Amino acid sequence: MSTRDVAPTDQVHPGDPVTVDRYTRGARINHWITAISLVLLAVSGLALFHPSLYFLTDLFGGGQMTRTIHPWIGVVLFFGFLGLFIRFWRLNLWERSDSRWMGKLRDVLADREEEDRDQVLTEVGKYNAGQKMVFWSMSLLIIVLISSGVVIWDQYFSQYTTVEQKRIAVLVHSIAAIVAICVWIVHVYAAIWVRGTIRAMTRGTVTGGWAWKHHRKWLRELVTGKDRDQEPGAKPAR
Ligand code: HEM
Repeated sequence: MSTRDVAPTDQVHPGDPVTVDRYTRGARINHWITAISLVLLAVSGLALFHPSLYFLTDLFGGGQMTRTIHPWIGVVLFFGFLGLFIRFWRLNLWERSDSRWMGKLRDVLADREEEDRDQVLTEVGKYNAGQKMVFWSMSLLIIVLISSGVVIWDQYFSQYTTVEQKRIAVLVHSIAAIVAICVWIVHVYAAIWVRGTIRAMTRGTVTGGWAWKHHRKWLRELVTGKDRDQEPGAKPAR
């Protein structure tokens, strides 16, 4: 997340909204590779999961092909997410205010943040508690998916595990995949529901108004240059 500049007031023209940098190009490419691989994994995994969904294997060139490439897409997802993890884990560390934010989730869903007297809902850092929960659950689920996936990756690892272990791994793998798809739906729903968020990951920027409304503490830190949420070398906001 580069935090290069909030446009200085003397350069702001009427009709030009102030924009704030939120993600570098590298972070966005990393994110979309991860996102695409999760979608492909979900579709190819579902195709292998139940006979009624077998027709989806046509998208990957047939049953054998789907079986061959599904685990490799999993490897791409693992390393893609590892990149995101390395970039963002610090910003997702749980703070005391996050527990209070969760306690007021009803107000967030009802868009009553501004009425919060304690300012727990307005003074939010780069990520809110909901985003942090998505981040940590995805991290855990991807570890479970890759480890159980390796156990059932017969092409390379069949001799290292017993049939019994494989049975357990298939069950764990399927449950983790279904939960991961649910977490992914929550993530995408939130990104669409909070207007102005998608552009953070497409253009890399958000409007000043968006940052003020949803991540005020982060914006304040950007403007004062006290931002701990910056990538090394990023310039403070002006
Ligand atoms: C195709 C579906 C997806 C869409 C539309 C989407 C959209 C977004 C958007 C708009 C943001 C920026 C949120 C913000 O800055 O406040 C974001 C952040 C992020 N996304 Fe996605 N995303 C998708 C899939 C995924 C997948 C599959 C993963 C991981 C497996 C993922 C992991 C992340 C992470 C780690 C962040 C940074 C937020 C954080 O660290 O808490 N995204 N996404």
